[in-house]
Amino acid sequence: MARQQIVTLVILFCLAVARGFIGVVPTEPFNYSTQVDTNGSYLLFWKTNNTHITFEVHVKTHGYVGFGLSDNGKMYPADVVIGWVKDGVTHFKDYHTTAHAPPVVDKHQDWFLLHGEENNFGTVLKFVRKLDTCDKTEDKKIEVEPIITPGNEIHVHHIVVYRCRGIDPKFDKVHYNCYNGIPRGLRPCYDMIIAWAIGGNTFYYPDHVGFSVGAADDPDVYILETHYDNPALKSGVIDNSGLRITLTKNFRPYEADLIELGHQFDWKHIIPPFEKAYVTQAFCPSQCIDHVSMKREL
Ligand SMILES: *[C@@H]1O[C@H](CO)[C@@H](O)[C@H](O)[C@H]1NC(C)=O
Ligand SMILES: *[C@@H]1O[C@H](CO)[C@@H](O)[C@H](O)[C@H]1NC(C)=O
Ligand SMILES: *[C@@H]1O[C@H](CO)[C@@H](O)[C@H](O)[C@H]1NC(C)=O
Repeated sequence: MARQQIVTLVILFCLAVARGFIGVVPTEPFNYSTQVDTNGSYLLFWKTNNTHITFEVHVKTHGYVGFGLSDNGKMYPADVVIGWVKDGVTHFKDYHTTAHAPPVVDKHQDWFLLHGEENNFGTVLKFVRKLDTCDKTEDKKIEVEPIITPGNEIHVHHIVVYRCRGIDPKFDKVHYNCYNGIPRGLRPCYDMIIAWAIGGNTFYYPDHVGFSVGAADDPDVYILETHYDNPALKSGVIDNSGLRITLTKNFRPYEADLIELGHQFDWKHIIPPFEKAYVTQAFCPSQCIDHVSMKREL
């Protein structure tokens, strides 16, 4: 009796597999295959060698196909590809998920499309990736947190960070006084990427945005500039304030940028004594905005 049940189960199992795969022939022999859903609308074939894994999906749709791998079997965090075929052209991209939210395009595309087609069954996509891409799907918040030396809150007026392209690394660890004291070799460094001012709290970047740090074409030199306010000319103030910057290894699809609007505050900005109110007007003509967005898009 027990044996009969097993035989029945095995036959049922074979029938299910056979039914699900009817009319579906992979583009080449694969070592493994499975029916991902319950009714045979999503079939998966795959094979590996020492370095790569190749998948082929046959999905009963003429819309789009999503495919994801996650360590925990859940929708996130996952490494995801999405693709479809339209007018004979296959569209295919590498994404990742960090929440129950639309997947985000990866900055580094790790999956490569080998084949895409629509047929009577549905849509076929074949794609390959390296087995270890170091593409960590877990993501940390990128944040900038002001760390102000206790007692100096009224003195630390603002802190900015500049990123310096094309600067001689000999300027590493050089100290200088702002305005007149800037060493000649650091003069070209006006690319401000972080700005904190008195009253500001921790700044969190949006999940899909970040500055690239430490990649091959990123600069080696950054300048942290702290500006102080000391109207009473109090002496003996020792300050150790700064910014704690949290980085993530996970690439963000969009590069952040910082735009300065308004009046350039420098020594030429003089408010005459005993003024009750003083209005400063600044203009940002559209040509200026065009120039900035054109320059940074590239
Ligand atoms: C995968 O299949 C190929 C033939 O298609 C075979 O040569 C190879 O040994 C198989 N590898 C594994 C791990 O089963
Ligand atoms: C398979 O099941 C899904 C979910 O229940 C359903 O939407 C789809 O229409 C079914 N497809 C077929 C071919 O039965
Ligand atoms: C492993 O598979 C990849 C992708 O198909 C292929 O490019 C690579 O040459 C294969 N490596 C070996 C050693 O066969």
